[in-house]
Amino acid sequence: MSLRHRIKSHTPWPLHYLYRKVYYFPKDFVAACALVFHGTRTGTTFAERAALVRKFYSISYYVDCPHTEHEILTIARRILDLDPGVEGTIIEAGAFHGGSTAKLSLVAKLSHRTLDVFDSFEGMPENREMHGKSIYGREHHFPKGSHAVGLDEVKGNVTRYGVASVARYHKGWFSETMPGFREKIAVVCVNADLVQSTKDCVKNLYPRMERGGIFFSQDGHFPWIISLLKDDAFWEKEVGVKKPPMEGLGASKLVTIRADRRPAMR
Ligand SMILES: C[S@@+](CC[C@H](N)C(=O)[O-])C[C@H]1O[C@@H](n2cnc3c(N)ncnc32)[C@H](O)[C@@H]1O
Repeated sequence: MSLRHRIKSHTPWPLHYLYRKVYYFPKDFVAACALVFHGTRTGTTFAERAALVRKFYSISYYVDCPHTEHEILTIARRILDLDPGVEGTIIEAGAFHGGSTAKLSLVAKLSHRTLDVFDSFEGMPENREMHGKSIYGREHHFPKGSHAVGLDEVKGNVTRYGVASVARYHKGWFSETMPGFREKIAVVCVNADLVQSTKDCVKNLYPRMERGGIFFSQDGHFPWIISLLKDDAFWEKEVGVKKPPMEGLGASKLVTIRADRRPAMR
């Protein structure tokens, strides 16, 4: 167990939560203000946006969330600001305890969309990937079965803290559940840690997205995901499109990719 995990497991949760909120305050504050003080193309009110921020903080207190608040607040703002003419569902690939799922269900409700949640609900698949330090200097390893949280717990958290009626669940490996998905797709949020899992998401979902939609990777702090997303050959040969422009690649955990498909040159 790493020193960080040992400290975390011996520190009372309220103190740990407070530490995270103080540590990330500058970035979280900017992202919260950007959401609360700007109107969105999906007609939300100031009160609705302020309530969303309050609920996000409350969910992070009650559910173990590996994402940062500024990352999910930015995703929420971008979804609420999508042109309502861009039809389709919001997909989450990688739910863990369902903290991000509960938050995205609140955003889905406000933006009049559904939320399709893909996960094995058994943790990481078998893999031989070599991992290591993120761009922030922390060690990360994802052996088979790590991050395993059952479907019932995720559904329970969404029911308690989010909006259960907008969520649909797709249990199984991405490589098996995604190819048969036939709904229109407006937004994809991938938080899957592994190269193989991210490849499955990009290959199966990105080419099927509605023009104007947004594909988020929340794994942009991992050098192995940065290499994958930078790889022209991956985009052209495996996804079938030219590598699209990306915001944040190599610089932040959140990478934003617009869905405006251009056929790959073959
Ligand atoms: C980092 S966690 C997701 C964190 C979550 N989005 C949050 O912020 O609370 C990664 C999740 O991806 C799932 N996962 C990774 N690869 C997968 C695959 N190939 N098929 C299905 N689920 C996968 C794991 O089960 C795990 O729940």
